[in-house]
Amino acid sequence: MTSATDFIFETNKAKHQTVEQGAFTWSAPSNIALVKYWGKKEHQIPANPSLSFTLNRCKTCTTLQFVRKEEKGISFDLLFEGQPKEAFKPKIQKFFERIVSYCPYIADYHFTIDTTNTFPHSSGIASSASGMAALAVNIMSVERALNPAMTQDYFLKKASFLARLGSGSACRSITGSVVVWGEQTDVDGSSDLYGIEAPFEVHANFSNYQDVILLVDKGEKQVSSTVGHDLMHNHPFAQERFKQAHQNLSQLKNILQTGNLDQFVALVESEALTLHAMMMTSMPYFILMKPNTLQIIERIWTFREKTQIPVCFTLDAGANVHVLFPEKDHPAVLAFIREELSKFCQNEHFIEDKMGNGTLMIQ
Ligand code: DP6
Repeated sequence: MTSATDFIFETNKAKHQTVEQGAFTWSAPSNIALVKYWGKKEHQIPANPSLSFTLNRCKTCTTLQFVRKEEKGISFDLLFEGQPKEAFKPKIQKFFERIVSYCPYIADYHFTIDTTNTFPHSSGIASSASGMAALAVNIMSVERALNPAMTQDYFLKKASFLARLGSGSACRSITGSVVVWGEQTDVDGSSDLYGIEAPFEVHANFSNYQDVILLVDKGEKQVSSTVGHDLMHNHPFAQERFKQAHQNLSQLKNILQTGNLDQFVALVESEALTLHAMMMTSMPYFILMKPNTLQIIERIWTFREKTQIPVCFTLDAGANVHVLFPEKDHPAVLAFIREELSKFCQNEHFIEDKMGNGTLMIQ
């Protein structure tokens, strides 16, 4: 699958089934980028490749019911935690409009989408990655019902392709624990169109890698990532940044293979701060870190210096801090988080997560 046209569902194929109605339920996790996607071209094509760890506990669970209707057109109801949620509809409407040329059958059905998150809604954790990934695999289940001959590889790639059209980072939440999205010369099979599971052996040092998410600010995002990505157009440092992301991804590939945790810490923290540096140097400019974000970062540095435990942080487009560390250091780091870092979180709230595997069909 090398071009977007490979993902167009061919209607009127002899082998296709007719399906009147049905329902599927899938869960999809969130993911945390280590090399960041920040900046995009038309049609949700990333300006640079990115690499993420898939999470395990932070998930969206979505049931998609579908029933054939007479007239053609996009039609759906949206429930969030069992209640109608009008506010989420425009994003889904836009998603359906973007994917209908690849999935023309969606115009034949009325959908009821019922979605819940395992993480609290107002936690400042973006649900767009897990939400769009969960919806994309559900749509692909509908497509597989129409075309049972579909291969598993096609299912996963097209699910990622569709999720990308909903939210770029969502394409990294479909399958695998370490996922690369975006064309990169030394990552075989990498594509701007979808995420792939890292096609190389990842060192045991990273097995079950831990991610504790410190909820520094649970409020609405000050700037949506879509707006943030746009600010990379005409950004004075954009081209250098895109070049650097390629270099960092090559280097990270090497680090993940060799298991060098000191190099991992340096690269991951540098990526996080570079992401925020891009925001601070765009026009208009933003500071998404809060004083407590910096308090936490300083304490992580002191703790690392003192204990030599290779714990590090990364950030997404907000004030929350992801604390990353090897599984074997869980007791020591968790005690540190409880004693020294939790006081910088809103209501002392943090979420203990770790590396996971991607989407799961529930029924
Ligand atoms: C900082 O995937 O949320 O988390 O494609 O516009 O939906 P859209 O953006 P989104 O951007 C994620 C930005 C990031 C970095 C990353 O996840 O790679």
